[in-house]
Amino acid sequence: MLAFNENWEFTSEWSESFGRGEGPAEAVRIPHTVKELPLHDIDHRDYQMISGYRKRFTLPEGSRGKRLFLEFGAAAHIATVYVNGQELMTHRNGYTAFRVEFTDVANYEGENLVAVRLDSTENPEIPPFGYVIDYLTYGGIYRPVYLDIRDQDLIDDVFVRSVGKDQAKVTVTLDIKTDPGAKNILLTILNREGEVVATQEAKAGEDVIIDCPKVRQWCPEDPVLYKLRAELPGKDIKEVEFGFRAAEFRFDGFYLNGRKIFLHGLNRHQSWPYIGYAAPRSMQIEDARIAKEELGLNAVRTSHYPQSHDFIEACDRMGLLVFTEIPGWQHIGGEQWKEQAKENVREMIREYRNHPSIILWGVRINESMDDDELYLETNRIAHEMDDSRCTSGVRYLEKSNLLEDVYAFNDFTHTGDNRGAKPKREVSLEPTKAFLISEHNGHMFPTKSFDTWERRQEQALRHARVLNDSMIDGEHAGCFGWCMFDYPTHRDFGSGDRMCYHGVMDAFRNPKTAAALYASQQDESPVLEISSSMDIGDYPGGAIGTIYAFTNADRVKLSWKDSSMKDFRFLWNCEGKTFYKLKHSPIAIDDPITHTWGGEASVWKFEAIKDSQVTATRIIGGRGGLRIQAIPSSTELREGETWDMAAVRIRIIDCDGNICPYAQLPVRFELKGDAELIGPDMATAEGGMCGTYIRTVGHAGKAVLSISSPGLETVKIEFEIF
Ligand code: GAL
Repeated sequence: MLAFNENWEFTSEWSESFGRGEGPAEAVRIPHTVKELPLHDIDHRDYQMISGYRKRFTLPEGSRGKRLFLEFGAAAHIATVYVNGQELMTHRNGYTAFRVEFTDVANYEGENLVAVRLDSTENPEIPPFGYVIDYLTYGGIYRPVYLDIRDQDLIDDVFVRSVGKDQAKVTVTLDIKTDPGAKNILLTILNREGEVVATQEAKAGEDVIIDCPKVRQWCPEDPVLYKLRAELPGKDIKEVEFGFRAAEFRFDGFYLNGRKIFLHGLNRHQSWPYIGYAAPRSMQIEDARIAKEELGLNAVRTSHYPQSHDFIEACDRMGLLVFTEIPGWQHIGGEQWKEQAKENVREMIREYRNHPSIILWGVRINESMDDDELYLETNRIAHEMDDSRCTSGVRYLEKSNLLEDVYAFNDFTHTGDNRGAKPKREVSLEPTKAFLISEHNGHMFPTKSFDTWERRQEQALRHARVLNDSMIDGEHAGCFGWCMFDYPTHRDFGSGDRMCYHGVMDAFRNPKTAAALYASQQDESPVLEISSSMDIGDYPGGAIGTIYAFTNADRVKLSWKDSSMKDFRFLWNCEGKTFYKLKHSPIAIDDPITHTWGGEASVWKFEAIKDSQVTATRIIGGRGGLRIQAIPSSTELREGETWDMAAVRIRIIDCDGNICPYAQLPVRFELKGDAELIGPDMATAEGGMCGTYIRTVGHAGKAVLSISSPGLETVKIEFEIF
């Protein structure tokens, strides 16, 4: 497929004449958002419009006699595509890909014109629209577009899934468009090194089983991928990546390749500050990396819609387990709307079913009421199209009709002083079917990065309690917290600035205390975060009370010193027993205060100790020496199939590397060279943290980003653009 993302033109007001190629327009590149937006107080009306995109192009030599398609990764939300003035199709789902064949209207000699009329209003005819929604739905052709030139005989779709107990076989279903009775198809399975593992011939219209001895199974610890190449000799080739793995939900949990794994995850929205959904591949991969490496998750729910293949592919490669679902939020519309919801199930499954990371299909509208007629059908469609995966659907309802395989429950019952999770028997009427928590916390305890230490600590503890309690009876298959990142929303839900501060990270992917709870559940790299700056002035009556260390060590050693001491003096050791089901319990440190109001503040040393070794140290209270810490997602950007971008996460830290949440300083960005800033050239370090983004501008080169704040040393980052 040929990348088709350059030299588009855009108008925020579609007209037929624009579609005919007349009049001026703005030059844009895909991925594109119909409107760049502020960080706070987004007015959802700003991105709701009937906009237009168009692009002139000529067909490469040799196109004549072929079949010609345009493939759109996603266009939010209703896209009508015209080629050379002919209306070819309307696609009514902002979260799935679609293909338009334009062979019959193609111009092989001269110029062609593709035009897209894009409705990004909250059009009540399609999901997720029709009532209020707790997130913004943006607008734009926000995933890549491709030109696909194929033979008349072509392999339209390949579905490959492993079968059998030892997973050493695959079933392949082929969708072939050829003359009747046509040719044999050659199937080859290749490993990562490109070596042939198995080959077999197949015929159109038949499922094929291929034996593949000695393959490695895909799992989070060893996410090994294989490739299936389907070839119509001399005509067409299609390749898909897949993994050998069995994903099963049994009454007592989730099993991967016969091994029980607790799904330890968070929900992810696919939005970024300023650009909404329109981020290129590198940002999708970065989010998967953050989930896996920084948050230590083994699972993600793509709330509340299918997300970019780049994200899901990164999950395949990194070994993250994914629960994905059709677009929707509580509301179910009329008959036509329901038909579209069914169509969305078909589109989602056809498009995503080769990804080994996807283990569960969400075939209900998130948190909708029971609608047996609709959900019997969505469930039937899913099973018919994919016999290798279970279905689910997220509800806040208890005892609702479970037509799917797994009861996914948004357990918002925890209020801080009660149990963290409801037992399965109190929620599900189907003891023989699996049960999981698809959301918890979120709006029950919104927490800003600039809230007090106590509040940020409590957010982390609430996540810990739900996670811990969901593991007590061994009947929960997993637990997905709400949510990974803060996100902009409608006025009906936000904190006054139309933001939902429900993330364990802020919108720029900077960590709150709760992120450390998740990070501390993995063993790859040492974690030690302290939930307090130990400033008595920030607590009522100067009493700090119980604070927590979030660590993957066994214990924390605490020492202190005042100005009269040269070295630290040992105070006590604390062990991690409070949350006994967690792999690594947060460690409670009871009222460690040794000075009172009027006394001299101490400096504190916390050491994380595992197997008698110090794995991490935090010095708290040293203060002073504030500086800017800037963490780029990458300093190498690539103009490839689309433009590229880098995220720069910024934190104001003290001399000991602690984030200073009350250093809410103005931060200025200046970018010189062959790239441009996304968003404003100023930000406030909210909770001591903010960020910025830079993007490529169509050519290679170098760029330097200067990050400054009054009184602090300026930080410069050099980027290379290839
Ligand atoms: C759920 C909903 C999510 C989000 C969350 C906030 O009800 O599914 O989209 O709104 O609440 O806690």
